[in-house]
Amino acid sequence: MSEPYDVVIIGGGPGGYNCAIRAGQLGLKVAIVEKRGRLGGTCLNVGCIPSKALLHASELYEAADKEFAGLGIRTGGLELDLPQMLKQKDEAVDGLTKGIEFLMKKNKVDYLVGKGRIAGAGKVEVETEEGKQTLDTKHIVIATGSEVTPLPGVEIDEKRVVSSTGALSLEKVPGKLVLIGAGVIGLELGSVWRRLGADVTVVEYLDRILPGMDGELAKNAQRIFAKQGMEFHLSTKVTGVDASDADTLKVTIEPAEGGEARTLEADTVLVCIGRRPYTEGLGLENVGIETDKRGVIANDHFRTSAENVWVIGDCTSGPMLAHKAEDEGTACAERIAGKAGHVNYGVIPGVVYTAPEIAAVGKTEEELKAEGRKYKKGKFPFQANSRARTNHQTEGFVKILADAGTDEILGAHMIGANVGEMIAEICLAMEFQAASEDIARTCHPHPTLTEAIRQAAMGVEGWTMQA
Ligand code: FAD
Ligand code: NAI
Repeated sequence: MSEPYDVVIIGGGPGGYNCAIRAGQLGLKVAIVEKRGRLGGTCLNVGCIPSKALLHASELYEAADKEFAGLGIRTGGLELDLPQMLKQKDEAVDGLTKGIEFLMKKNKVDYLVGKGRIAGAGKVEVETEEGKQTLDTKHIVIATGSEVTPLPGVEIDEKRVVSSTGALSLEKVPGKLVLIGAGVIGLELGSVWRRLGADVTVVEYLDRILPGMDGELAKNAQRIFAKQGMEFHLSTKVTGVDASDADTLKVTIEPAEGGEARTLEADTVLVCIGRRPYTEGLGLENVGIETDKRGVIANDHFRTSAENVWVIGDCTSGPMLAHKAEDEGTACAERIAGKAGHVNYGVIPGVVYTAPEIAAVGKTEEELKAEGRKYKKGKFPFQANSRARTNHQTEGFVKILADAGTDEILGAHMIGANVGEMIAEICLAMEFQAASEDIARTCHPHPTLTEAIRQAAMGVEGWTMQA
């Protein structure tokens, strides 16, 4: 009989593959089990990567149509080649998933294609095309991710009524696209198809978009997206989608509190009301692991209630983000190897990759008020930033929140071009428990958008340069 593994990881997404790489680097004998047939999970295959490939291409398409002439660039007749746009997206995905496979080999991780199930303590059964095999292991890591939350009364066929997966591969640009949910997926993929020519209508149950993000940021974002042409129905629920007509979908909506129903017509409906943890058929009952609505319960540092069974990523509590899953994967491998890996949950940034981008880290003003914490605020508009002016990208602002007594940075909230990259400066500052004065006194290159961060920090100190 062959030596047992030190770790078997079930699920090959950002949580699982980063856990495998780190465990391999630490000299552990590792296997990763993935049923999709490709590594990279939701993120690489049907999430972060394909969506960003389409966001990038569609942003350039819209710029060529609406902005190039103003910059003195004349193009010939602009034409959309959708098959090529989808192909370059698929090529980006292919290249990256193959890269992960290479990293498994490099770090001596065994990669098994199949569905994993916990058969008992220290046993993972893998169902492959060839049949079933059982792996013996000291530790098991659950990294099975999440799936689309369904909406009762709305059947997803991934052709006309789609989830994010279908919305990444539509064969033609819809004339009318209705989004159910004004969260991250709705705004990102809604932006893609709007830029390519669709009329986009967003139906959101709550009275605001992007719940959980800073209210001032969300309000500004909605104003900008509305100006770009998205139509919003807030405090409104979808009660059903009738797909019986071959050409037109009929979406029934009514006020969230109840009231008179109305019908919206659409070619395509995107259901994006959130994701839920995925642990189907995983055999959790065989080792007595409990779940709640946020998935597998992690007690302390990724440990579940079963000895030597760990959990990371979307299938447990915390934000459903690739970098959170990655960090948990790395720290979990370190814990298994007897080291002190940990994740700072106070410094997990969130970015919405629309144009302008939206980025946030730390506490929102609403959270600080609810906690009764006294804070100072500095805000700087891109309208007053020289690089934003030269780039004609003046929408948005940077807002920094700091403790009223100690000046420690508690959160930052930004909307504007490139803020998804810029937020990392604040993450690093917060990781070092910096004061806003530390940023205000740090030399930033001129002319750059990052000067808006410095100016916002100066605003916290009351030294703002703004007129
Ligand atoms: P997953 O990536 O879901 O991976 C889990 C893997 O486990 C899957 O491949 C699944 O096939 C496999 N699996 C499940 N059960 C079994 C089993 N029993 N046996 C074997 N294999 C199994 N996050 C960001 O941070 N930035 C973004 O820009 C971003 N964009 C997104 C865009 C979209 C459209 C979507 C849907 C999501 C996006 N996300 C983004 C979220 C991100 O994709 C997830 O947070 C991330 O993939 C979670 O990683 P994970 O490893 O926990 O799970
Ligand atoms: P979400 O949680 O971001 O937004 C869902 C929205 O739907 C919310 O505004 C919610 O109030 C609304 N809603 C819920 N039920 C509804 C109903 N019945 N009718 C109308 N509206 C309803 O979820 P989304 O957009 O589906 O994305 C899922 C997750 O994927 C995100 O939470 C995020 O974790 C991840 N993601 C991250 C991205 C990024 O980091 N850039 C990009 C895309 C996804």
